[in-house]
Amino acid sequence: MERTLIICKPDCVNRMLVGEVLRRFESKGLRLVGMKLQQSPKPQVEKHYEVHKERPFYQSLVDFMTSGPVVVAVLEGPGAIAVVRNMLGATDGRQAVPGTIRGDFGLDKQFNLVHASDGPETANFEIGLFFKPDELVTYQRAADRWIVSA
Ligand code: CMP
Repeated sequence: MERTLIICKPDCVNRMLVGEVLRRFESKGLRLVGMKLQQSPKPQVEKHYEVHKERPFYQSLVDFMTSGPVVVAVLEGPGAIAVVRNMLGATDGRQAVPGTIRGDFGLDKQFNLVHASDGPETANFEIGLFFKPDELVTYQRAADRWIVSA
């Protein structure tokens, strides 16, 4: 089992695509173990994107990510990190393959709808940055229990 962090970015929330994005991940079989809507504080965004600090788009990325609310979530499942990255598609929506989230809904490399952790270490760091341990809920899948009562 693996956990990964996703952020439905301000463009995603603004375009009302959060439900569509979460539907795709849930339909795939990934389980939500944490989720919240928040206006991200600037220091948290700066820390999150610290690896890009020297890149020319850094300041504009921080401005974008603090420009409106985001939905942050933790998804769990076998190989969740790679599965989610594949479902997102290439960073630039113009290059992302149709069928992927960015391929179906995006045309831009900054306004690319959803962020997802790119490896196990990053996932640990990012989950810890956005969630307190008691905000993550571990539970067993028990779908059968809701179909036929005893
Ligand atoms: P994300 O997956 O959140 O990781 C870093 C983000 O930086 C990326 O998605 C884009 O939103 C943004 N980004 C990456 N490359 C560029 C670029 N060349 N110009 C502007 N923004 C970019």
